[in-house]
Amino acid sequence: MTENVWNEVDHYLNELFVGSDPALDAALRDSETAGLPPINVAPNHGKFLNILARTVGARTILEIGTLGGYSTIWLARALPEGGKLISLEAEPKHAEIARANIARAALSGKIEIRPGKAADTLNQLLTESREPFDFIFIDADKPSYCEYLQLSLKLSRVGTLIFADNVVRKGAVADPSNHEALVAGARRFNQMLAAEPRVSATAIQTVGSKGYDGFAIALVTSLT
Ligand code: SAH
Ligand code: DHB
Ligand code: MG
Repeated sequence: MTENVWNEVDHYLNELFVGSDPALDAALRDSETAGLPPINVAPNHGKFLNILARTVGARTILEIGTLGGYSTIWLARALPEGGKLISLEAEPKHAEIARANIARAALSGKIEIRPGKAADTLNQLLTESREPFDFIFIDADKPSYCEYLQLSLKLSRVGTLIFADNVVRKGAVADPSNHEALVAGARRFNQMLAAEPRVSATAIQTVGSKGYDGFAIALVTSLT
């Protein structure tokens, strides 16, 4: 009953605030056809990310976990002329579907999908002399979130916004007897983020078409 209401309200909100969008709709359709798991952000959540990235005036965005490129398209659309998004994806098939979805959205010029394990590609990014990222979206394997946070901070400046998906896991994160890898990963991440002196952070619970979960958001306030 409750989940049904969440679904209906998400449907209502998405029709109202997002509507049909050929490139995004096709990205979801082709991701599903290719057998990708339907764990992309919801449309209203994608638009939320887009608005956040525009609010901070992001010119460079880092995404950890591409899947079929649905959130990638939302985020890249926030970029100004000359802006760049790098998205990290370990599964070659996901990266391939994402590249096709991104090409159809006419965003190939702004987006680079880097294949490989994100811990490796993040360390690779650290060796390149590049500007810090303005916005970082963490959304890959949950057990690695702590490592991704540490590496993300090294790729940040004061003012970088870090957004992490899936940190509530149906509420299981607040149940210390739950030791599932996804849940424990999110719990360790929340603990690390809360204790991290270089950021000011909070987390918000969400319900909707993707069930009951939540996100964390952190503003980098110092580099030391
Ligand atoms: N951001 C996407 C959803 C990402 S789902 C969206 O909202 O549309 C998580 C993705 O992370 C999956 O595609 C998975 O293959 C990828 N992933 C899992 N472990 C990874 C790792 N170690 N390195 C890079 N990507 C990984
Ligand atoms: C799941 C959901 C996500 O949004 C994600 O990024 C990874 C996994 C899940 O429900 O398992
Ligand atoms: Mg997610």
